[in-house]
Amino acid sequence: MKKTTKNTRRSFVKKLATGAAAAALLPTAATEAKNIQHLEWEKPSRRYSANDKIRVAAIGMGIMGFNNCNTTVKVPGVELVAVCDLYDGRLQRSKEVFGNQLFTTRNYEEIINRKDIDAVIVSTSDHWHDHISIAALKAGKAVYCEKPMVQHIDEGMAVVEAQRKSGKVLQVGSQGVSSLTQAKAKELYEQGAIGQLITVEAWNDRQSPMGAWQYSIPTDASEKTVDWARFQGDAPKHAYDPLRFFRWRNYRDYGTGVAGDLFVHLFSGLHNITSSVGPERIYCTGGLRYWKDGRDAADIMTALFDYPETKAHPAFNFQLRVNLISGTGGGSMTRLVGTDGVIELGWNQVTLRRNKVPTRPGYGGWDTLETFSEAQQKEYIEWYNKKYPPLPPQIEEPAEAIYKSPREFDDHLAHHTNFYDCIREGRTPVEDAVFGLRAAAPSLAANLSFYEGKVVKWDGEKMMMM
Ligand SMILES: NC(=O)c1ccc[n+]([C@@H]2O[C@H](COP(=O)([O-])OP(=O)(O)OC[C@H]3O[C@@H](n4cnc5c(N)ncnc54)[C@H](O)[C@@H]3O)[C@@H](O)[C@H]2O)c1
Repeated sequence: MKKTTKNTRRSFVKKLATGAAAAALLPTAATEAKNIQHLEWEKPSRRYSANDKIRVAAIGMGIMGFNNCNTTVKVPGVELVAVCDLYDGRLQRSKEVFGNQLFTTRNYEEIINRKDIDAVIVSTSDHWHDHISIAALKAGKAVYCEKPMVQHIDEGMAVVEAQRKSGKVLQVGSQGVSSLTQAKAKELYEQGAIGQLITVEAWNDRQSPMGAWQYSIPTDASEKTVDWARFQGDAPKHAYDPLRFFRWRNYRDYGTGVAGDLFVHLFSGLHNITSSVGPERIYCTGGLRYWKDGRDAADIMTALFDYPETKAHPAFNFQLRVNLISGTGGGSMTRLVGTDGVIELGWNQVTLRRNKVPTRPGYGGWDTLETFSEAQQKEYIEWYNKKYPPLPPQIEEPAEAIYKSPREFDDHLAHHTNFYDCIREGRTPVEDAVFGLRAAAPSLAANLSFYEGKVVKWDGEKMMMM
């Protein structure tokens, strides 16, 4: 599923001034519709024989487990052979959806010890990600692990090392990294479409019980149908509690809160677009304001991240917010703000707005000029026109261009396809363990900052706390 957006580093302005894009994107009424471009990609065309299959198993069959499996079985040459979960109803449902031939178990070791399984998809609650990924890599399996790659920063390097040692593919599941829109935003950014990057703003807001993770709890949930002891793993021990099992995100023992759940997608996007390795200073605040249903995780978090200058980008500041009671109906956006405009990355479109900082100061309007004596105003204008002679006429630059991802493009499928292509071709996936840790760590550092009331320092290059 190769994307066809090209990554030239030529000046965006030069391209506009000389190419067809200039005509296509002029912001007049007659050409307004042409401001919208539909992104293109190459559909995968390879076919595989029955004995050239990658055999995959899924560990964790909740919402994302089913999503991952539904997507993965669409990839040519992939067969889902086994699933593991800790609620019996989900094992039964797996057979209903994917067939009675599926091997099902509550014990993930029964899956990773099987020689005939090549890869596993880990879609458990966050507190199991590192344990299962490491065990699977050690057993020689490729791993597709949901985001955030780890629950705590200090678990990250062990996953990175396990991946390196095994030589197996590990893909982290922030599928937006495989989207056409992020590829386009990256291309625009690298072409210099917004000039020098100054700041980035991002948010992911929600306004519903489901959005605040109040998921349905089955009426047959009990200590018989749920493997509560196994679920708890290395988390602090509690008596069986269906809320903690089915709505684990709301509890810091098992989840990572809004930061690990949602900040991490926005970091993945930002790092993909800017080739950044992460911020060096992190400060986060927030609170539990509305969803007081027994949870101990915050429902609003707002954070600031200082990115140092690197070879890939100038120093910039990143402000990030997730609000589970936003009052707006919700929405998600990443906005890169530069000296020449902004790139706005929405759900399935990218908008480029050009707005250059004038290179000349100008005069008049909200200015001191009219406070000068009449004679001084005249003299000043004469002086100004000598200092700044009129410029030759220039090609008008487009004010706005919108790039849309076609409906039939599925970034989740592209992400899974990349995973299997990398297994077959021995390549590094788009979101490997190092990328996964660099996206997870600042999110988890935001949690540390908020809960411990401190500024956290992180070295994204060395992937360690400072
Ligand atoms: N990429 C995305 O867009 C996206 C979207 C939603 C969730 N996620 C991630 O997917 C993961 C799962 O989220 P969810 O919404 O599907 O949760 P969920 O509660 O619906 O499902 C989690 C499942 O994991 C199972 N599980 C827990 N520990 C296990 C273990 N040791 N062995 C086997 N099974 C175990 C539970 O039984 C449960 O059924 C999370 O890490 C979440 O952050 C990613």
